[in-house]
Order: sequence, then C-alpha cells, then structure tokens
Amino acid sequence: METNRLYAELPAISVNEAVSRVMISGLLMNIRGVTMGEIEEVKVALSEAVTNIILHAYPEGYPAGKIYIKGVVEGGRLTLKIWDKGCGIANLSQAMEPMFSGSGSQERTGMGFTVMQSFMDSLDVRTEKGKGTSVVMTKKLGIGT
Ligand SMILES: Nc1ncnc2c1ncn2[C@@H]1O[C@H](COP(=O)(O)OP(=O)(O)OP(=O)(O)O)[C@@H](O)[C@H]1O
Ligand SMILES: [Mg+2]
Repeated sequence: METNRLYAELPAISVNEAVSRVMISGLLMNIRGVTMGEIEEVKVALSEAVTNIILHAYPEGYPAGKIYIKGVVEGGRLTLKIWDKGCGIANLSQAMEPMFSGSGSQERTGMGFTVMQSFMDSLDVRTEKGKGTSVVMTKKLGIGT
C-alpha cells in the first residue's frame, strides 16, 4: 500500500475542530478495506486532541497559538501526531485519568484522553510546562497490508 501523509498548522480556534475532521477523513478514505467505523473512531480521537488544544493549551493571557497535525499512513497503519506549543500539563498522570478535568467548566467530563485510548491502538502523551503537549496515536486500518 502506498504511503500517504498530511501536515497542517491551524489557528487554535473552535471552527478548526471540524476542519481537522474533514482533513483526516480525506487522508483515510482511500485505504484499502478501511471501514466507516474505523474512520469515525479516528475522527473522534483526533477531535478530542484538537479540542484539548483549543480549550486548554493557550489559556487567557497566553499568546494565541496553533494546532499542529501530522498524519502518516504506511503499510495500513495510521500514525497521528497532534501537538501544541502551549502551557503544557502540570500533572499528566492525573490529567489522563478517566473523569479528571483540570478545567473548572461543568461541560468538561474529563474523558478526552480515555476516548483517545479506547478508539486507537496506542496513545503516547508528552508534555512540558510552558513548552507544549504532544499526543501520538496509532491505529491499524482496513486490511492492514
Ligand atoms: N493540549 C493541552 N494543553 C494543556 N492542557 C491540556 C491539554 N490537553 C489536556 N489538558 C489537560 O488535561 C485535562 C484532561 O483532558 P481530557 O481531554 O481528558 O478532559 P477535558 O478536556 O477536561 O474534558 P472532555 O475532554 O471530556 O471535555 C484537561 O482538563 C486539561 O487540564
Ligand atoms: Mg478534552
């Protein structure tokens, strides 16, 4: 199977959650044997990571920043990296626990990382205070040649 890749830098504003979903659908659409279900799972995982950047990475008083997305499809496997150059996460193991949210908002259920983990085959999160956060996820798709 051919290798394909995408790279995007988007302003961290809410409309770009939808933009990122459209882009990743386009990248995955032509993979041999890929199912709508698999594409949907990747879209959900990606939008959790992108939403986290929009909501948490560049808090008030922080310079407005970007969402960086890199997707590589190789040998029927997707590697997706989503990162920011924002505030970082002070306590990562706590942030990754189900139902932990560092935001005071009632709307946040604290399930973003848990959703990414359950819809993808692997999840690796790295963060540095004041430098940013990166999320790398992989998933085997289609017939996975
Ligand atoms: N890119 C990021 N930059 C800074 N902080 C982050 C980032 N991603 C996640 N966090 C922190 O980790 C916490 C947990 O993230 P998670 O996505 O699991 O939950 P949530 O965003 O609070 O709620 P939900 O995703 O369910 O709406 C966030 O509340 C936030 O404090
Ligand atoms: Mg979240």
